[in-house]
Amino acid sequence: MVARIIDGKVIAAKLRARVADEVTRVQREDQLTPGLAMILVGNDPASEVYVRSKHKQTRAAGMASFEHVLPADVAQCELLMLIAGLNRDPLVHGILVQLPLPKSLDTEKVIAAIDPAKDVDGLHPHNAGRLAGGLPALSPCTPLGCIILTKSVHASLEGMDAIVIGRSNLVGRPLVQMLLNENATVTITHSRSCNLPQLCASADLVYAAVGKQEMVRGDGIKKGSTVIDVGINRLPGADGEIRLVGDVAYHEALNVAGAITPVPGGVGQMTVACLLVNTLRAACTIHGLSAPKV
Ligand code: GUN
Repeated sequence: MVARIIDGKVIAAKLRARVADEVTRVQREDQLTPGLAMILVGNDPASEVYVRSKHKQTRAAGMASFEHVLPADVAQCELLMLIAGLNRDPLVHGILVQLPLPKSLDTEKVIAAIDPAKDVDGLHPHNAGRLAGGLPALSPCTPLGCIILTKSVHASLEGMDAIVIGRSNLVGRPLVQMLLNENATVTITHSRSCNLPQLCASADLVYAAVGKQEMVRGDGIKKGSTVIDVGINRLPGADGEIRLVGDVAYHEALNVAGAITPVPGGVGQMTVACLLVNTLRAACTIHGLSAPKV
C-alpha cells in the first residue's frame, strides 16, 4: 500500500482563498483592511526568502503588508522602539519578527515587547500560556498548519496516539498543546529521549520537527500511521542547487504510512497561510468584530 500524499500546496491555497474572501468582506462591511508588519534583522538567505514569500502572500490576500529590514548589528533598543511604534500603529494588526535573530539580540525580550493582541506568531508568553491553559489564543502558525493537515485525513483526533519529535517553542511545544486540545494522547520526545524508536513505532500520528534530515525511517513508524514532516533541511545538490529534505525518509515512509506530507509541498506551505489567518483574526478581535469564517 502506498500512502495518501497530503497536498499542503492545495490545502494552503484553499485556506488563502478563504482568507482573501473574508478580507474582502471585512473591507466592504467594516471598512477594515488587516495589516501585517514584518521585521527582518540581518540578511540570512533563508529568512529573506521566507519574509519575501510572506509579504507577497499577504498582499495577494488583500491585506496591507509593511516590511521593515534592519541591519544585523542593529541596537536592541532600536528594534524595541520599532516594535513599540508598530504596537501603537492602528494600520498594523499583526507583528512578526522573523527568527532566528542575530545572537547579539535577546529574542525573549524582543518577543515580549510585541503587543499580545498583535502577536500573530503566537510566541508571546501571554499567548503561549493561554494555549497551554486551553484558552482561545493566537497560536503559532506551523503547528496550526500541522493540525489542519492532520484533519484533512482524520475528522477527529480524539483518543489517537500522537508523537511529537522536537520541543521547540516555535513548533514542538505549541503542537503538543494543540493536540491535547484535540483530545489526542500526546507523547513529546526530543534529542535526549531514550526510547524514541519504540514510541514512534506505536503512534497513530507522527510529527517530526527536529531539523535532522531523514531521521525518521520507514521501518520506524506504524503501518497506516499519519506522518507530518515539519523538517526543512537544506542540502546542496550535485548541481549546486539547494535541495530541501524533510526529517522523514519520505520514500521509505511512503510504503508504510497511511498518509504523509511531502517536503517541499507539505507543512511549509501551511505556515504562511496560517499567518494570514492569524492576522485576519487579530484584526477582527482588535476591532471588536466576530471571528472570521476561515
Ligand atoms: N522562522 C522560521 N519559522 C518562523 C515562524 O513561524 N515565525 C517566525 N517569526 N520566524 C520563523
